[in-house]
Amino acid sequence: MMFGRFILTLKQIRVPVEGNIGEERVPTSSPTGEAQIALRAVDGITQKRETGNVQRAHCIYPGTFDPITCGHIDVLERAARLFDRVTVAVADNPGKEPLFSAAERVAMIAPNVKGLRNVSVTTFGGLLVDFAVEKKADAIIRGLRALSDFEFEFNMALMNRHLQPQIETIFVMPNEQFSYTSSSLVKQVARYGGEVGHFVPPNVAKALKKAFAK
Ligand code: COA
Repeated sequence: MMFGRFILTLKQIRVPVEGNIGEERVPTSSPTGEAQIALRAVDGITQKRETGNVQRAHCIYPGTFDPITCGHIDVLERAARLFDRVTVAVADNPGKEPLFSAAERVAMIAPNVKGLRNVSVTTFGGLLVDFAVEKKADAIIRGLRALSDFEFEFNMALMNRHLQPQIETIFVMPNEQFSYTSSSLVKQVARYGGEVGHFVPPNVAKALKKAFAK
């Protein structure tokens, strides 16, 4: 109830500065203006879901996925329930020196999303928001595992909003059993022969075993 009232109050705020979102003139250069942009973006997603026939709400789930873990899949399943379409965007980011190539990471994800009919997987390079615009996405979805994720995610979401205000970032919490999982930890355990079957799907466990057997 309180939350609903809070949104109503924000929607009623008027500030004198204006900017453009698509065809519409809206306030932009004040904290309340930013709040309005965020609300319009969420409204836009809702409207697309309601009208359905022309455009459908589409989100991007980006990451390095080196490799994909059960925690990532948990986020993905939540995204697939919330959005009409989800694109898993594997960052072709040589800066992170991944163990697996981008093509290998896509190939490892693909069999694990076969049951999710509204999910597709691809790679991207360059700025995430440029990719999101190119794909006509409405939102970026990210998982928040613990408080320690917050600062990094917060900065990234605000920078992305600065670059493309119409692309909203949505956060979901993966199941707590995955709160301490990360791709690096899984790789470390696998490197020294530890069992990773609880944290990654079987095809990934197999690929890790093969990679570290070399
Ligand atoms: N379950 C398990 N692990 C998870 C997880 C979950 N639900 N969510 C995050 N993680 C882990 C990952 O395994 C990864 O672990 P690692 O660091 O040990 O490898 C870590 O959290 C961060 O992973 P990820 O979510 O893949 O983020 P990232 O930092 O690797 O990638 C990008 C972030 C690719 C989305 C970002 O760098 C980007 O957008 N790059 C494009 C360039 C750009 O636009 N830059 C400007 C951004 S403001």
